[in-house]
Formats: sequence, C-alpha cells, structure tokens
Amino acid sequence: MVATFNAADTIRRIALAAAATTLAVSAVALAGEPAKKPLTFGASPELARGQYLVGIMGCDDCHTPMKMGARGPEPDMTRRLSGHPQDLRVPKPPAPDMAGWIYSGNATNTAFAGPWGISYAPNLTSDATGIGSWTEANFVKALKEGKHLGVGRPIAPPMPWPAYRQATVDDLKAVYAYLKTVPPVKNTAPEYQPPQVARK
Ligand code: HEC
Repeated sequence: MVATFNAADTIRRIALAAAATTLAVSAVALAGEPAKKPLTFGASPELARGQYLVGIMGCDDCHTPMKMGARGPEPDMTRRLSGHPQDLRVPKPPAPDMAGWIYSGNATNTAFAGPWGISYAPNLTSDATGIGSWTEANFVKALKEGKHLGVGRPIAPPMPWPAYRQATVDDLKAVYAYLKTVPPVKNTAPEYQPPQVARK
C-alpha cells in the first residue's frame, strides 16, 4: 500500500515537475522571442498598424454602406469606407423620443438621426471626395478635437471621436496612412443637417 502511494506520489511529482519545466521553458521562449512581427501589408509597419487599427476600431461599421446578407446587414466591401451613398435619399426620420428610442440609423447604417439632427458618415477613401485632399494634420486634429477638419463645427454623433481621441498621435497617423491606400470611390456624402433643418 505504502509503495503504491509512493509510486502515485512520484508520478504526480514527475508530472508536476514536467509541467513546471514546460512553463519555465515557455517563459524563457517568450522572454527570448523577438517582438511580434507586424501584420504584413506592403513593406510598411505603419500601414500594417493602420490596417489593424481600422479593423479593430470598427470604422467599417458606419463608413462602409451595409447591404443585407444571409445573416443580416453586412458591409458592402465593393464600396468600402465610401460613406453614405450620395444617391440614396433617406426619408424623414421619426422624431427622437427622449424616453424611448432616441436615435435611428438608416438601412445602410451611414445616416443617423437623433437629437443632434442628421449626420451622414463621410467618404474615408483616398478619392478627392473622400480624404484625398485632407492633410495628416487635419485628420489627426479632427479625431483629437472632434471638430470638422480639426477646425470647423463640432463633429456630430455617433462618430466615436471621444473614444478615438485617446489613441496616440502615431496610431492616428497610421490610420490616416492606411485610409490613403483604400481604393478610391467617388462619393460625396450629404452635408450634416442640424436639428432645425433635419425636422423640416
Ligand atoms: C458609430 C458610427 C461611426 C464609426 C464607428 C466611425 N465613424 Fe467616423 N463618422 C461617423 C459619422 C456619422 C460622421 C459624420 C459626423 C458629422 O457630420 O458631424 C463621421 C465623421 C468622420 C470623419 C469626418 C470628420 C470631419 O472632420 O468632418 C472622419 C475623418 C471619420 N469619421 C473617421 C472615422 C474613422 C477613421 C473611424 C474608425 C477609426 C470612424 N470614423 C468610425 C460615424 C462613425
């Protein structure tokens, strides 16, 4: 009996020691591992970073028109990041109900009506109707300060600039650099309409 216990104990100890060794080895491997390679996009780590950030920050959710897919709305990647389609007229939105449904989004999820009026996600592609003529400084300032082109009127909801302003300047520059590589789509999204105009 005692021998059996000892054998079991020994086996357990060996197993534990083996596990500990594995952990130690992987810790050493991690410590000695070179920094993770950036995703490869062309040759530039900045573009790879920008591509990654645009993906996880969800810019497609509002700036790429949605189309109906098998499992609900999905971004139409043939016109990726081109903003609210200029030919798509949206009907007059329901009045915001401050105690109920406070805002509405249209079928392409590029036009948003709420207490702020109606905002249309603009074109972020490299076309002249997108951010083609924006400078990097305009872009970074717009996202950092929540003002149109960094200097104009306040940027309306639901553009989540209060979250994005927390990104580092280098990350915002990488987002800009990547957006400049997005295939150009010619599309001028409608102008923002403040509440008094939107309700007419
Ligand atoms: C929840 C929806 C939503 C998401 C997500 C979103 N945007 Fe927007 N964005 C908008 C809307 C709506 C506007 C238009 C606001 C207005 O006209 O005031 C806008 C405006 C902008 C503008 C124009 C600012 C200006 O100066 O007029 C830029 C640039 C922009 N978005 C970049 C981005 C980037 C980059 C991302 C991802 C990192 C992103 N947006 C994610 C909805 C969104």
